[in-house]
Amino acid sequence: MMSEAFYETGEAVGQYLFFHYGKITDYMPYPQGPVEAFGFPVRVVTGMVDSSTLPPSPRALDLGCAVGRTSFELARFCGEVVGIDASARFIEAAQAMQREGRLEHDVLIEGARRMQVTAEAPVDVDRTRVDFRVGDAQALPDDLGAFDLVVAANLIDRLPDPAACLARMESLVKPGGRLVITSPYTWLIDYTPKQNWLYSPDGDTPTRDIIARALGPAFTLEHHTDLPFLIREHARKYQWSVAEGTRWMRGV
Ligand SMILES: C[S@@+](CC[C@H](N)C(=O)[O-])C[C@H]1O[C@@H](n2cnc3c(N)ncnc32)[C@H](O)[C@@H]1O
Repeated sequence: MMSEAFYETGEAVGQYLFFHYGKITDYMPYPQGPVEAFGFPVRVVTGMVDSSTLPPSPRALDLGCAVGRTSFELARFCGEVVGIDASARFIEAAQAMQREGRLEHDVLIEGARRMQVTAEAPVDVDRTRVDFRVGDAQALPDDLGAFDLVVAANLIDRLPDPAACLARMESLVKPGGRLVITSPYTWLIDYTPKQNWLYSPDGDTPTRDIIARALGPAFTLEHHTDLPFLIREHARKYQWSVAEGTRWMRGV
């Protein structure tokens, strides 16, 4: 199943809890595997955010937060983090992680064989700093306020109208604030009608230039890099992808 309904399934909840909180020895036990692609929801923060450029106790938004790991990593240095996702099942799981610090779930081994694992939140994070909410990244409430840092990790190519989401960033990011976008740019008509794909049909324009246009002149590209990540389907099948990470500064 490849559509937004996937994110409301128990299979997706288990897959993303494992992606966000799984231990490397369980998640990628093969020494031949691309271990550097492990831990993406943490690396989005450690590799893309420069906390020294933010004011003390910054306010952050994690758009498309899924089951919450990136939000908890942001809470290491942010006074307040709002995590928003369209999937009620994902937000329920994120809130359970916030409340209990752990959550039992199962993941596929092969066929109908499954294994029980325990997702554990990082112990040295003040999880009460995070506020998880169900919401639509393309229709955010007007009273959400503005943020010193907005992170949209692997979200834009899952939206029907990514340009509408990007157009909202000028009012969402405070002057002088930062916006981090990561995406493997996997455009699929199941999520995004083709006329809304942010890509260059002739391949002449890097996608980050198309994103720059959608963001408008208030944003300047500050940093871009490749961020590999690994989605485990079952014990012997993984999707290895490379997101492009871009960091943008909102002009003052
Ligand atoms: C590919 S996952 C990435 C999740 C997470 N940021 C990560 O890096 O693991 C895409 C996420 O976007 C969420 N999503 C899809 N459409 C959305 C929308 N309109 N508003 C907010 N979240 C949405 C999905 O529920 C899912 O959690």
